[in-house]
Amino acid sequence: MISIGISYLCIVGVIFSARITLQASTPASPFYIGAAVEYHPVTTGGNGTFIANKNAQNYVKFLKTASEKDVDIIVFPENGLTSGEPDPPGGAAGLIAKSSYIPDPRESKVPCHDASSTVMQAVKDISCAAHRYGLYVVINIIEKVKCTGERCGANKDTHDFYNTNIVFDRAGTIIARYRKYNLFDEKFMNKTSRPELSIFKTDFNVTFGQFICFDILYETPALQLLREKKITDIIYSSHWFSELPFLTSSQIQTSWSFANNVNFLSSGLNSPSSGSGGSGIYAGKEGLLGRVWSEKRTNAIVISKISKVVNSRRSQPSNPIDTSTIHYSQNEITTINGTEPVTQQKLLKDDLAPYKTSVFKPNNGTQNLLLCDDDFCCNFTTKTSHNDALIKDANAKYYRYRFAVFKGVRGYGKKATAGVEVCGLIACTNDNQNSCNERFDINTIVIQPTIFNSIKITGNFTIGLNILRLPVSLTNDLQPLNTPDYSFIYGHINKTHASLKYTLTKPHGDLMTFAIYGRNFTADGQPKTSTSTIAQSSFYLMAIIAIGGLFINHNYV
Ligand SMILES: *[C@@H]1O[C@H](CO)[C@@H](O)[C@H](O)[C@H]1NC(C)=O
Ligand SMILES: *[C@@H]1O[C@H](CO)[C@@H](O)[C@H](O)[C@H]1NC(C)=O
Ligand SMILES: *[C@@H]1O[C@H](CO)[C@@H](O)[C@H](O)[C@H]1NC(C)=O
Ligand SMILES: *[C@@H]1O[C@H](CO)[C@@H](O)[C@H](O)[C@H]1NC(C)=O
Ligand SMILES: *[C@@H]1O[C@H](CO)[C@@H](O)[C@H](O)[C@H]1NC(C)=O
Ligand SMILES: *[C@@H]1O[C@H](CO)[C@@H](O)[C@H](O)[C@H]1NC(C)=O
Ligand SMILES: *[C@@H]1O[C@H](CO)[C@@H](O)[C@H](O)[C@H]1NC(C)=O
Ligand SMILES: *[C@@H]1O[C@H](CO)[C@@H](O)[C@H](O)[C@H]1NC(C)=O
Ligand SMILES: *[C@@H]1O[C@H](CO)[C@@H](O)[C@H](O)[C@H]1NC(C)=O
Repeated sequence: MISIGISYLCIVGVIFSARITLQASTPASPFYIGAAVEYHPVTTGGNGTFIANKNAQNYVKFLKTASEKDVDIIVFPENGLTSGEPDPPGGAAGLIAKSSYIPDPRESKVPCHDASSTVMQAVKDISCAAHRYGLYVVINIIEKVKCTGERCGANKDTHDFYNTNIVFDRAGTIIARYRKYNLFDEKFMNKTSRPELSIFKTDFNVTFGQFICFDILYETPALQLLREKKITDIIYSSHWFSELPFLTSSQIQTSWSFANNVNFLSSGLNSPSSGSGGSGIYAGKEGLLGRVWSEKRTNAIVISKISKVVNSRRSQPSNPIDTSTIHYSQNEITTINGTEPVTQQKLLKDDLAPYKTSVFKPNNGTQNLLLCDDDFCCNFTTKTSHNDALIKDANAKYYRYRFAVFKGVRGYGKKATAGVEVCGLIACTNDNQNSCNERFDINTIVIQPTIFNSIKITGNFTIGLNILRLPVSLTNDLQPLNTPDYSFIYGHINKTHASLKYTLTKPHGDLMTFAIYGRNFTADGQPKTSTSTIAQSSFYLMAIIAIGGLFINHNYV
């Protein structure tokens, strides 16, 4: 009797909710199921409308997989729907066909049912699929807004354009919209006069905040969501251009999630020829749940059981079996055909010329060095084992290391400048400082003569709301280190300063980067720090201490 009753209820439930998923998380569940999509988009074959429709058809395939895995919420990448190019040839006029009007979320519109809606077909299709599969869906789109009169600007545009994320609930209703604030060049995109804090509540009682790509390196809206709205779960869509040695996609995402101890669902546009890709789900100080990073083009989805954060605590520790990563074949999603345009991710390089660096001479034992850029000092302590026999062969390829410190202003893209404050250990392909933003090709056999048994970076750092500091790391194959291989601990000094200790706690012979990457928002917009000859010759080491009876012979560049 009882079992008949239950199955009857289930059938009624299916009919009434018109949902395929039976297992939605509830307010009472200790976790929910999240998905992040890595997507290589369709970018050619027709006009913008055609391309968006093709990409929407592919999105529906990801949604089907997600519903089969009981996913509650799924995030798609920046520029994924309306093709990978934010600045199309043809300028603003070319954007009309690949952009959409988007209703204000306060109107609670369901574009799927709405014949009169001016929302583009691709977005309607996704609204329908969100309803059909019964999950929350986050997509990114170029949004167009009709504009009249003065505020349209000198070029008499008929539209403003925004790089916009929209969120559908399980019924296909648009419940949230976020217009990207920190644009990365994107010369045809507009930005809102103030950053929007876009949050939305779900039926499983998690309130998410969202932001896009380059926003991650800024105070607002990203950090404001945490400080003002107490957000614990972040939705992030990106079309990132990975840069060595500090800013590859997963490296920065995992460290942001860790430093702020928030769950982080990150979806990346996949395009290795521009160094774009990297998606994952991160659980704050619990570390990585699942990640996709591919040197070649790929379509994939990461699905994870994510512990809710209640009163700053996760109800259950993360478990690797609760995550699955599915790669799609060319038959399933046909965007990857023909020969690979590049054999590996083509990465950008940070300009390290203004950095103060000091060559690390590996030994068997402990070394200590205080290295400063102006008044900004970091104290490095390393314990290494170094097998020098391995590199006797003149052709051996191996990474050399330098300590590097920089406080100043750098450029991001063509326009923005930003305050940074960095100290860390970086890997170089030869003895020159200008090789410390490169890597060996992925097919190179790289020998690992130096094992770092531990690294400790400490300093007395200014604290405040204008500073964000991230513990970044990378191995040779561009994997960020995961907890518990490191710790990152603040200690109280006084109102304006804190001591910070970033420690490598497990031996690694495959290190590429181990650094504290700081952003100083106060210095944003100032002129770039240049590499004057004076700066180069005024390079100084405040102290060199060799523990264990070894004298370190430092090279000054
Ligand atoms: C929903 O979440 C809030 C904030 O974490 C909590 O206070 C509340 O008790 C939760 N509600 C339910 C029904 O679990
Ligand atoms: C885009 O191409 C389709 C055919 O694929 C055509 O029907 C449509 O009118 C075109 N739209 C624009 C705005 O040119
Ligand atoms: C949007 O951007 C265009 C191009 O930069 C500009 O001409 C226009 O004034 C902007 N619109 C608003 C509302 O700022
Ligand atoms: C291969 O890719 C090109 C360019 O994206 C596209 O025009 C073509 O239709 C694709 N072929 C198949 C079989 O999907
Ligand atoms: C470190 O110890 C190993 C093993 O004893 C030895 O082969 C190697 O030469 C030593 N390295 C240095 C730099 O002394
Ligand atoms: C740097 O760290 C070492 C090892 O912990 C310590 O002995 C030394 O005093 C520190 N130097 C400074 C300037 O804090
Ligand atoms: C940090 O401050 C402490 C106490 O004022 C001092 O002993 C230490 O040397 C400082 N560390 C660095 C790296 O400057
Ligand atoms: C706070 O500590 C820092 C680093 O030790 C020191 O330079 C600064 O003078 C201290 N400030 C105050 C107000 O004591
Ligand atoms: C941040 O930048 C401001 C303005 O250039 C500067 O005065 C301050 O010292 C910097 N702070 C840090 C911690 O780098």
